Amino acid sequence: MKKEQILEELLMADGYLSGEELGRKMNCTRAAVSSVIKMLRADGYTIDSVTNRGYRLTGTPNVLTGELVAARLGESRAQHVLVLPEIDSTNRLLKQLADEGAPDGQVVIADCQTRGRGRLGRDFYSPKKKGVYFSMLMRPDILPAEAFNITPCAAVATARAIERTCGVSPSIKWVNDLLLGGKKIVGILTEMTLEAETGRIAGIICGIGINVLEEEEDFSEELRGIAGSIKTAAGIECSRAALAAALTEEMDVLRTGWPACQGEFLAAYRERLGTKGPIAIHDLLGNRKNADAIGVGDDFSLHVRYEDGSEEYLRSGEISIRPQSPA
Ligand code: BTN
Repeated sequence: MKKEQILEELLMADGYLSGEELGRKMNCTRAAVSSVIKMLRADGYTIDSVTNRGYRLTGTPNVLTGELVAARLGESRAQHVLVLPEIDSTNRLLKQLADEGAPDGQVVIADCQTRGRGRLGRDFYSPKKKGVYFSMLMRPDILPAEAFNITPCAAVATARAIERTCGVSPSIKWVNDLLLGGKKIVGILTEMTLEAETGRIAGIICGIGINVLEEEEDFSEELRGIAGSIKTAAGIECSRAALAAALTEEMDVLRTGWPACQGEFLAAYRERLGTKGPIAIHDLLGNRKNADAIGVGDDFSLHVRYEDGSEEYLRSGEISIRPQSPA
């Protein structure tokens, strides 16, 4: 307990904190503070100590823990942010918590998922110590049909969190994948439960998986061609705790501003859209149709033009980018 509190004090401090001051705040001796500092160093934190000035945190290990996320979010928001070392699926657990009465804005984050869920019944690769696996519960008072737009808006919120924390700008592949260096680094799966009597939404669970620190060889051969991480694409080791906290904040902007904020999110979505020009559209039966992506409709549908000149606004479906043939 003291360890968590001293870490929080060091994270919040703007400069050095003396052993005496820390001891007073924690109601313990300077010797006890010094032994907690030793433990933190053993955990990988780098802490500078200077006689007559005290301690200053100069580096944190890239771990995803409740204390590190809470220290960035503040106590009141962190009350509803559960950070776990391992879970089968953050979406699955959050659905259970929602059924038990968890509030709007409850978040579950995990360092590792043993059965991460992807779209279309696929698995989502979620190895430990590498990514951020995040789910947020929303309870907006809207009809199910109005919920479709939450997922593309979550893609914008996630891109903003990555930009803020890592200084790189992913592009959006319609409808809700984020790409960096041409590879998918984020997947989003939104699941919804309805009230049987009224048909209204009981809860929306927006699940976001970010590949942060994976190396190329961490991915299976099958995934290697399409999936990457912030590290493989940009060569940087972004703090996962800082990213998880920023994602909570950016998703809060979406959750608390919904539905009025949709117009602003749509403009940001259009700016970040990388799906332009030649694409292939794949249906569930494995058929493929070539088209050109020419924009995004006001309802986040993809505006496409087929080779025969006809046009359509797609609401759902899988697409892939077609390499442009040389002129
Ligand atoms: C996809 O690209 O197919 C969507 C992947 C969504 C993965 C995230 S990770 C956090 C949350 N929990 C899950 O089980 N899935 C989502």
